[in-house]
Amino acid sequence: MTYLLALDQGTSSSRSIVFDRDSRIVAIAQRELPQIYPQPGWVEHDAVQIWTDQLATARDVLAKAKLTAKDIHAIGITNQRETTVVWNRKTGHPVHHAIVWQDRRAEPLCARLREDGMAGAIQEKTGLVIDAYFSGTKLRWLLDNVPGVRAQAERGDLAFGTVDSWLIWQLTAGKVHATDVSNASRTMLFNVHTNQWDADLLKALDIPASLMPEVKPSSAHFADTAAGLFDRSLPIGGVAGDQQSALFGQACFEAGMAKNTYGTGCFLLMHTGGDFQPSHNGLLVTSAAQTSTKPQYAMEGSVFVGGAVVQWLRDGLKAIPGSAHVQALAESVPDAGGVMMVPAFTGLGAPYWDAEARGIITGLTRGTTVAHIARAALESIAYQSAALLQAMSRDAVAAGGMPVAELRVDGGACVNNLLMQFQADLLGIPVVRPEITETTALGAAYLAGLSTGFYSDVSELSKLWRVERRFLPTLSRGKASEAMARWERAVRQATAS
Ligand code: G3P
Repeated sequence: MTYLLALDQGTSSSRSIVFDRDSRIVAIAQRELPQIYPQPGWVEHDAVQIWTDQLATARDVLAKAKLTAKDIHAIGITNQRETTVVWNRKTGHPVHHAIVWQDRRAEPLCARLREDGMAGAIQEKTGLVIDAYFSGTKLRWLLDNVPGVRAQAERGDLAFGTVDSWLIWQLTAGKVHATDVSNASRTMLFNVHTNQWDADLLKALDIPASLMPEVKPSSAHFADTAAGLFDRSLPIGGVAGDQQSALFGQACFEAGMAKNTYGTGCFLLMHTGGDFQPSHNGLLVTSAAQTSTKPQYAMEGSVFVGGAVVQWLRDGLKAIPGSAHVQALAESVPDAGGVMMVPAFTGLGAPYWDAEARGIITGLTRGTTVAHIARAALESIAYQSAALLQAMSRDAVAAGGMPVAELRVDGGACVNNLLMQFQADLLGIPVVRPEITETTALGAAYLAGLSTGFYSDVSELSKLWRVERRFLPTLSRGKASEAMARWERAVRQATAS
């Protein structure tokens, strides 16, 4: 039993990864997950397919690695967060498709909560701003809109869960209904101070408490898999939402340590230790992955359009034949030639929060080429992340802490050296890429390894974190501030449009 198996159920795919004790990847199996768009602004997944695909990848990865369950010490689960599933406790059937985190259908309900003056209490209890992003109002939508669901819920026949709970339920053939603190903290129903479902919030949203799963620390014995799924029953020893799992996989265990995941969007999280520090800069406070019942927090901000800007260059502007061409095109010019792009395609998130903002490209001259635009598009990912990190550092300093000293990076776009160097130049701190950039899955494996004695403590995990490349800032701080000031000017134009 010398390996750990991580199940990584994401928005666009279900994956399974086997890691060895040195945190090296032994094998990966993956299946793409179809997206369902019933109407504009709505996004759904087939929850049954989530489960069958996830199980299939777990079996595939063992076959690929030429291992059996007897070689696996424990399972860790990490998942797309906020996505909401409700199912029947007797039959195990979902009452509706899963409502995905990107889905905006609960916005009218959120507007009502804001009008009712709930924002202060919700931020104080949950660390979150009222938004349709989180699970609570999605769950309420299901109760109000799917025929028969409220009556069944009131009879105690239904279970609610984020994707982790749904997978645990299936993996245990309906024996265990549980989640971890990091996933619970994304529901807008969870009190991050007491680590319990908040009775007042459940009441305010008219959600029967019988729907809710048991909440455990992220590193704990959740359950053993049901007989027959694998050739032995495996302990599920760790569970965390994907962004908190990545923070853990990046060995960011202490206050002030931060990571950025460069995917379609970017998710920037900074560990803030055991003290709840509300943000004064529009960031979220969330529960970090916890290895005990003691609360641990992180500050979080997200960039809505990160790597998606490269997809837009490819599919919208038809400026590149494939995403991999962006670095070469951007590198064919020495700089963006004064071009600045704000890809506010769907508004701007933290620290600007302007849903009405729209994308702009400024600084065009007769000499501007598509290469300058490609470079400005790449740079926009770094500018947005820099604005978030600066806001985080302001919050940290205001709370008596230190600004972030280095940024650990992962996600698909972190392979782009030009982007990483520009990020370091803007931030004025090292940007550090680890050897293993599959940190989301690695975090779940670590959490499972810790609760089952595979690893002794987090200091052992810190030693396993190995640097692949460190990008050091080369731009003078004066020039970096000028660049950020130009960015902020462009943002003002985008928000005024
Ligand atoms: O909050 C949403 C996030 O957890 C989704 O992550 O990587 O599945 O798109 P991902």
